[in-house]
Amino acid sequence: TKIRMNVDMPLSTIDRNIYGHFSEHLGRCIYEGIWVGVDSPIPNTEGFRTDVIEALRHLQIPILRWPGGCFADEYHWKDGVGPKEKRKRMINTHWGGVIENNHFGTHEFIRFCELINAEPYICGNVGSGTVSEMSEWVEYVTFGGESPMANWRQENGRKEPWKLKYFGVGNENWGCGGHMRPEYYADLFRQYACYVRNYGENKIFKIACGPNVDDYHWTEVLMSQAGRYMDGLSLHYYTFPNGYGKEKGSATEFDETWWFRTLKRTLYMEELIERHDTIMTRYDLDKRVALIVDEWGTWYNVEPGTTPGFLYQQNTMRDALVAGINLNIFHRHSDRVRMANLAQLINVLQSVILTEGASMLLTPTFHVFDMYKVHQGAKSIPLHVDSPAYEMNGERIDRIHASASVNDSGILHVSLCNLDHAAAEEIEIDIRGKKATHVTGTILTSEAIQDHNTFDVPDRVSPCAFRDYRLEDDRLIVRMPSKSVVVLAVE
Ligand code: AHR
Repeated sequence: TKIRMNVDMPLSTIDRNIYGHFSEHLGRCIYEGIWVGVDSPIPNTEGFRTDVIEALRHLQIPILRWPGGCFADEYHWKDGVGPKEKRKRMINTHWGGVIENNHFGTHEFIRFCELINAEPYICGNVGSGTVSEMSEWVEYVTFGGESPMANWRQENGRKEPWKLKYFGVGNENWGCGGHMRPEYYADLFRQYACYVRNYGENKIFKIACGPNVDDYHWTEVLMSQAGRYMDGLSLHYYTFPNGYGKEKGSATEFDETWWFRTLKRTLYMEELIERHDTIMTRYDLDKRVALIVDEWGTWYNVEPGTTPGFLYQQNTMRDALVAGINLNIFHRHSDRVRMANLAQLINVLQSVILTEGASMLLTPTFHVFDMYKVHQGAKSIPLHVDSPAYEMNGERIDRIHASASVNDSGILHVSLCNLDHAAAEEIEIDIRGKKATHVTGTILTSEAIQDHNTFDVPDRVSPCAFRDYRLEDDRLIVRMPSKSVVVLAVE
């Protein structure tokens, strides 16, 4: 493989928010994963798991989306404030019909964000809510003066308003959020967004519900009919390795056909971004409106330990590579993609953390986010990758997937994924516009794609120092083992 990059011609800044996460009232994400309550035997800080807080602080998560997902469009925020014993209980109809006791509400979410140093991103209810409900939520959270909602917030123990930067106007309103037509949702968006007010200094970045995967018509209608009222348009795309419920698959059993399909479906994210961007650009040449990929990640259909309502799945080296590829794609399109949120944070889908009782483990995906976080806020670098093909059944993909950035101190970071499950690869990187003098590296790899961390062996897949490279003049020669993720720092 040959990679050529121009360090002195940086593209756009990689927004930190590309490293965002998503937490929904689904399965064991919020309850058990984040919130255990002050009386729990599990060590906690004000009711939030202390081990999780520490791990997430280390990860430097910039932003956290809540309360859903499909749950957002049946959530009535007023049920989740005030004394816990008086909070209403409700049925979580989307996710297993379990009883939601509303113990984790607005105060708890924003406090958790404070504890992990992340910006809160709240998603409001368009599907079964009302305009006044949404408008009062924003007033409750952000209004500093005297008003019914601000007074109620104070009675509930929070004197000062919070700063709230990001607000989503509904979720998947083409599906679980109301099965709407784009024309209808565009009208609703304009109406609802009008009442998502900016109080005082608090300026809200308004995110509209965007397309389901390749619904380009939705993007066209939203941009043409409501583009000027929004700051961001969301895109949801999951890597379903086996199609939407059509075939069976598992994260913990290896099958090369599934692996190749997983890669193809992951790489499809790039085409989706490019095509939605092209449509958006017709109405927004300056790229003012951001594309917000606020749900992405793997979603396996049949997985030991998974029930349809709870979406718990194992996280393997396969997920690590999926994460590396997606983050590379977001870097390369950072001119339009300015936020992305992995689904979901803990115990649901492609999580960075899994818990069982008082135990917690960091998944291979966690380690990729940790290795890649050096790109946050750096400038994306254009690169050309000439890679041998990984082929199957007449289809081909590049074996090596990459991205690069340069930070304010002039350090170049190069992220590389070797997608081939069996073959190592030598990569020659031609660095232009910078004299490379010193290199350090980190690698994440494993013996098998299906390797994962367990509560007994929590570090089976964990990063270590990487030294299989040499500098020759302006070229960096790297030898990557099969199925690996490498991040290099070049000074
Ligand atoms: O992340 C799980 C679900 O996937 C979300 O609730 C929904 O928005 C999407 O369909």
